Amino acid sequence: MSTATSAKQAAGVAAAALVEDGMQLGLGTGTTVVFFLEALAERIRQEGISVSGIPTSKDTAARAKELGIKVISLEDSMDLDLVVDGADEVDLEFRLIKGGGGALLREKIVAACASRVVIIVGEGKMVDKLGTTFLLPIEVVPFGVRATRAKVEGAGCQAFLRTMEDGEPFATDNGNLVLDCKFRYGIDDPAEMHQTLSQIPGVVEVGIFLNLCHTVIEGCADGNSITHQRD
Ligand code: A5P
Repeated sequence: MSTATSAKQAAGVAAAALVEDGMQLGLGTGTTVVFFLEALAERIRQEGISVSGIPTSKDTAARAKELGIKVISLEDSMDLDLVVDGADEVDLEFRLIKGGGGALLREKIVAACASRVVIIVGEGKMVDKLGTTFLLPIEVVPFGVRATRAKVEGAGCQAFLRTMEDGEPFATDNGNLVLDCKFRYGIDDPAEMHQTLSQIPGVVEVGIFLNLCHTVIEGCADGNSITHQRD
């Protein structure tokens, strides 16, 4: 296993240890979350704990079911005890960039229903300033995407339509498109940028997550993890 993968696994295992019997969970999306799901499934098998989870993507739903984790929906419950999700960048104020896997909309809806959100990351995701190491994903409706993109770029970035390997546009689980936005010097004021971008017609969700993260578990290559707690 590579050091990057070991770090993700360490974070996933540490997050699974936070789960308590009877909890209703939000299940994030991404390669780090897969390790959380595997460790959680192991606890269900070994300790007999009973939990249910709301997945934030079709991929996560499929993986959770394969692993024997009970999957429910937001129609069943809107009060989640704990959400565990990944992130593409985390700044010093626990503001996040998310959406590298295209699941930002469902991830934000689920995170907003939780009393606690734990973000699990491998190495290199903690940054001084958002937008410096990762492009900001924005989910937009397909209708009028050229016009939406022009307005997004008017906010001070270069916006690239996300495509798949075959060159076709990437479609989210909601049937929308993703613009990946490059800010030359990063995002100076994430709250202001979130507000500006959210007001553009055609924008469904912005991959800046504000005030939604309580704890960050940073995995290390040696299998340990560091827990960062917001005051
Ligand atoms: C999914 O849309 C994203 O928000 C992921 O949570 C994020 O990209 C982190 O993914 P990895 O754990 O694969 O790095």
